[in-house]
Amino acid sequence: MRVSVFGLGYVGCVSAACLAATGHRVVGVDVNRVKVDLVNDGKAPVVEERIGELVAEGVRSGALRATGDVRAAIMDSEVSLVCVGTPSEFNGSLCTTYLERVTEEIGAALAERGGRHTVVFRSTMLPGTCLNLLLPILEKYVGGTAGVDIGVAVNPEFLREGTSVRDFFDPPKTVIGELDPASGDTVAALYDGLPGEVFRVPIPTAEAIKYADNAFHGLKIGFANELGAVCQALGVDSHQVMDVFLADRKLNISPAYLRPGFAFGGSCLPKDLRSLVHAAQRADVSVPILAHVLPSNADHLQRAVELVERTGKRRVGLFGLSFKPGTDDLRESPLVELAERLFGKGYDLRIHDANVSLSRLLGANREYIETRLPHLAQLLADSVEDVLEHAEVCLVGTRDPAVLSALPRGSGGPVIVDLVHLPDAEARRAEPGYVGLAW
Ligand SMILES: NC(=O)c1ccc[n+]([C@@H]2O[C@H](COP(=O)([O-])OP(=O)(O)OC[C@H]3O[C@@H](n4cnc5c(N)ncnc54)[C@H](O)[C@@H]3O)[C@@H](O)[C@H]2O)c1
Repeated sequence: MRVSVFGLGYVGCVSAACLAATGHRVVGVDVNRVKVDLVNDGKAPVVEERIGELVAEGVRSGALRATGDVRAAIMDSEVSLVCVGTPSEFNGSLCTTYLERVTEEIGAALAERGGRHTVVFRSTMLPGTCLNLLLPILEKYVGGTAGVDIGVAVNPEFLREGTSVRDFFDPPKTVIGELDPASGDTVAALYDGLPGEVFRVPIPTAEAIKYADNAFHGLKIGFANELGAVCQALGVDSHQVMDVFLADRKLNISPAYLRPGFAFGGSCLPKDLRSLVHAAQRADVSVPILAHVLPSNADHLQRAVELVERTGKRRVGLFGLSFKPGTDDLRESPLVELAERLFGKGYDLRIHDANVSLSRLLGANREYIETRLPHLAQLLADSVEDVLEHAEVCLVGTRDPAVLSALPRGSGGPVIVDLVHLPDAEARRAEPGYVGLAW
């Protein structure tokens, strides 16, 4: 394909040189004359493993060249990759100035070009930036409709600086946010023959995936470093701890606990986080990530309370009470905490949990409920139907099949506040009377 690459920084230069090496004809465009001249001299404007030889070879073979002339580049290509910088503003917000400017320039050139051309944004940008900010700019300048006259896609870059050439030829994944199938096909064709799974998703999903990845990578590093510092203070070999931690592929290095759902609770996680943070503080070790896990969890629980408040309704049903399915353990159950808050705010509450019957609760469990929710007995309903009859709003905190099969669909019934991402959540999301907690 004939490709123009806008921005010859780390992302653009690697993309341009690697695409040229895989058989495409590439023209790089940059406002920085020095970078343009360097590429045309067969030299890479960035330092990266193997990039020098790829740029030299691309220029020598005629597959790669650079220019400052946007119009000429657009006239001579069927797809543009936008790789300009998106730095932070002083207040932390995303600077989209370079993106806006280059989109205007590309749009103006496309207005003269005619024929379909696909604009692919590779820069990192917040969800909504492409559809709400850049696409209208393109349509205005081109004087046409995106998805019809011009293709638009978002194709975030997941390569690591330092090994990005190697990563280009063996990527962790390829994500294509497509406005329409033809735009997605064009991006897929660019990487034809490269390994790794290809995900074709809506544009805002593609934009968000890049942030999910980078936020998680930062979180992982911060977690490991804080844990290391605590271990060191307690005289424990942190690398040995992490060797064993990492060997657990069932619960640790796995998809476990990584789906948005309800707050956590139970008799272990809150208690153990509290004592670990306390031990760190006693040893004068700052652990802001670990110290904020429980407050983050409390905020998530509060989101459920606010969703009920926003409905303006007073008669509330709650399905599920124990801290997780298949147990009657109520200690530090987030659903008990939720019930307590709603009860305290004067909501008319009915609760059903097939595993919880007050007469069967024993020992610490009973003591816990007697101190935290002494009115539980009068709130418990025997059947799912009793709760449904009572409720104007239903909080679903369990995937108990008896509850799932009884939940009404569509409008007319109680508002469903979904705390567990119900199996039919995707279909329900489009319906009135359904609210997901974080989806
Ligand atoms: N560096 C990375 O490893 C990496 C990885 C993934 C994603 N990203 C994202 O990719 C984007 C680019 O990052 P980078 O590190 O390559 O940035 P960079 O600052 O190295 O390069 C950006 C280039 O864009 C050029 N430019 C600015 N306006 C232009 C215009 N109107 N026309 C043509 N060129 C223009 C600049 O002169 C510069 O050479 C950012 O959104 C970044 O967040 C970077």
